[in-house]
Amino acid sequence: MSARLLLFTGKGGVGKTTLAAATATALAAGGRKALVVSTDPAHSLGDALGVPLSGHVSEVEGGLHAAQIDPLALVDDAWRDLRGHLRTVLAGAGVDELDAEELTVLPGVEELLALSEVQRLARGGPWDVVVVDCGPTAETLRLLALPDAFASYLERLFPTHRRVVRGLLAGVAGNGTVEKWDATADALGRLAENLEQLRSLLTSPTTSVRLVLTPERVVAAETRRTVTALALQGIRVDGVVANRVVPHPGSGRGPAAAWLRTRRAEQDAVLAELADLGSVRTVEHRAAEPVGTAALLDVAEGLYQGRDPLEGGAGDGGQLLSVERTGELEYTLRIALPVGDSSLDLARVGDDLAVTVDGRRRLIALPSLLKRCLVTGAELDDTGLAVRFAPDPDLWMR
Ligand SMILES: Nc1ncnc2c1ncn2[C@@H]1O[C@H](COP(=O)(O)OP(=O)(O)OP(=O)(O)O)[C@@H](O)[C@H]1O
Ligand SMILES: [Mg+2]
Repeated sequence: MSARLLLFTGKGGVGKTTLAAATATALAAGGRKALVVSTDPAHSLGDALGVPLSGHVSEVEGGLHAAQIDPLALVDDAWRDLRGHLRTVLAGAGVDELDAEELTVLPGVEELLALSEVQRLARGGPWDVVVVDCGPTAETLRLLALPDAFASYLERLFPTHRRVVRGLLAGVAGNGTVEKWDATADALGRLAENLEQLRSLLTSPTTSVRLVLTPERVVAAETRRTVTALALQGIRVDGVVANRVVPHPGSGRGPAAAWLRTRRAEQDAVLAELADLGSVRTVEHRAAEPVGTAALLDVAEGLYQGRDPLEGGAGDGGQLLSVERTGELEYTLRIALPVGDSSLDLARVGDDLAVTVDGRRRLIALPSLLKRCLVTGAELDDTGLAVRFAPDPDLWMR
């Protein structure tokens, strides 16, 4: 039986570390064996919990354990050399620009290696639940496209190109370089395997992602894109949390109350726009930074309101959006919408799909794959909306 895995991600500074720590603290207080792990090189998980942490799991208090992974420390020497070598080698072998582009994505692999370490820690203990603070950016999870990019990349390079490259190198650089290239190739192979395992962990039904945001327009827009991007990777987003919602000033008077009222009204407007992402949970902006397990429990109380923190906000086993390949040249985007006999209208607005159900419009940021497609059909049923896409011949091959 594998532990439930809860990942917290979102833009920088929105409160991922705090909410991951608060959630783990609440789960432990509720009697579960909980491990909270940070993959962020900045040591903020220890700051939030108010205890020093290391790369090894330590007990914070009854049932609550924590560790802080340093992704940089995980990068082995072969991999460190890899990038430099590859550029030179690929240019020499006449590998095309597309490959070069894929290579520029590789630096994010460090974060993925950190997630493999999470996987190792998760398997090595008696955990009911492992909560992960995924560091400063949602890009980490978007990088999951890498295993696919890698597979085709490796296919194109090996074994044919490997021989070509070896021959080339031997000609220009002597044997030392050839050995380095072999090591590079092996490191690439190991990495690809590693990423594949990670992908199956992250797409497993016992894994889900919670997106943290602050109620501001730019952040909300980014969250939408992340929801779509994760859906495309087959990763389940089970909830959205809005942090730092300012308290309502009630009927208070004076400039401070006026400021709060305006701020809160703006935040409420953003939250209303996000309502279609499922029930967005909120956490109030506290006067003091929540540090230490007592303060974190208090945050969790406001966040989960006495409910089980493992329950997502998006309904039971809910998934907001999913993208599946449903035919040779067909993709289907499914959107969970509470609709019955509804009127439906679809339109492309730039890179977004505008879905209007009973007069309520929802913008869905299309992932790059679907941007190059045309909408070929749509259906509404009890589970929501299914939109079919087929490659646009004018854009597909570019
Ligand atoms: N609801 C809140 N009320 C008051 N302070 C908060 C709240 N949430 C977070 N903070 C504080 O804001 C700061 C940033 O929060 P946190 O470290 O959790 O964000 P993060 O998303 O993990 O940031 P980073 O992207 O840098 O990792 C911390 O000092 C934290 O204590
Ligand atoms: Mg953090």
